[in-house]
Amino acid sequence: MSRIFISYRRQDSEGYVGRLYDHLVQHFDHADVFMDVDNIEPGADFVQTLEDAVAACDVFIAVIGPSWLTITDEAGRRRLDQPNDFVRIEIASALKGGQLVIPVLVGRAPMPAPVDLPDDLASLARRNAIELSHHRFGYDMHKLVDVIKSAVRTSRSGKAPADAAALRRKEEAIKALRLELVDATDSPLYAYRTKMRAFPVLGDGYADASILFIGEAPGKYEAESGIPFNGPSGDVFDEMLTDIGLGREDVFTTNILLDRPPGKRDPTADEIAYYTPFVDRLIDIIQPSVIVPLGRFAAHYILKKLDLPEKGGKISALHGKLIKAQMPYGEIHVLPMYHPAVVLYSASQKDTLRADFDKLRLFV
Ligand code: URA
Repeated sequence: MSRIFISYRRQDSEGYVGRLYDHLVQHFDHADVFMDVDNIEPGADFVQTLEDAVAACDVFIAVIGPSWLTITDEAGRRRLDQPNDFVRIEIASALKGGQLVIPVLVGRAPMPAPVDLPDDLASLARRNAIELSHHRFGYDMHKLVDVIKSAVRTSRSGKAPADAAALRRKEEAIKALRLELVDATDSPLYAYRTKMRAFPVLGDGYADASILFIGEAPGKYEAESGIPFNGPSGDVFDEMLTDIGLGREDVFTTNILLDRPPGKRDPTADEIAYYTPFVDRLIDIIQPSVIVPLGRFAAHYILKKLDLPEKGGKISALHGKLIKAQMPYGEIHVLPMYHPAVVLYSASQKDTLRADFDKLRLFV
């Protein structure tokens, strides 16, 4: 998904844009920095294609160079006055769509005055601009990256924190759900739980968390303690959280199954069907801004529940992708990741997991 859209005119600012792009991808995922709409299919409505590309981003950077305003087409008409001018369409749809629009002035270009802009772009002139100059490029970029990070963070974590009374209600609701799970004698894993003298594992963490992790199923250590991710995968999970400055108390962690299945087998369809209504109720109570399914079972469940186009996709293709979704309480993101246990089998996956966790910084 594109998060940062760079709009520019090749003849006007190409050199600067290359440098700008190279800096941005040091701070944001390559896949999240979008600059050339060059794959418009023959026959496709190009206005719609541009509008869709702009709508998929959170931050829109309008690079304005010395000839941005005045450049003309072959017939000598000013490009900006043409309704089919790509740059005009892009900027107009970003202004209309409510994206954060940042004019970035390069090559000593001045900020255009409203009278010099077509009506649908006039409000661009009121946006605070950032100037990128050759001699202070690093410093200016630093400022721009900070602005983008805080804008993306605000738009992603847009959750208003619960006040004290609302937080208490959430905690009470989770406690009641926990008691229901303890008494879930009709669960397919209840007999095994009692035989093993194990605990059910509803989940653990902050009742008003912005980030909700959903793993696969409790294992031996979790069933002995009643706490999710309490064994070797939990060590990996904790390390990843610590790396982004978080602890268990800042997030909420649960699983697709809330009792330990025998052996190390995969969850069955019956088990998933039994426990996921509990997970759904946890989501309704906590109302997270981002749901992080850890591993293929959780990813499959969440993407299907939310009926997202990515449902049925492989975790190897989906991990690290921020996917927008709608919940009754508002817009959220889903960020599928590999299960932390992957690192126990393949140490080289640690960097991949770490890079995916890094994206959660946007929500804290
Ligand atoms: N694996 C999981 O998916 N969840 C746990 O809680 C522990 C290991």
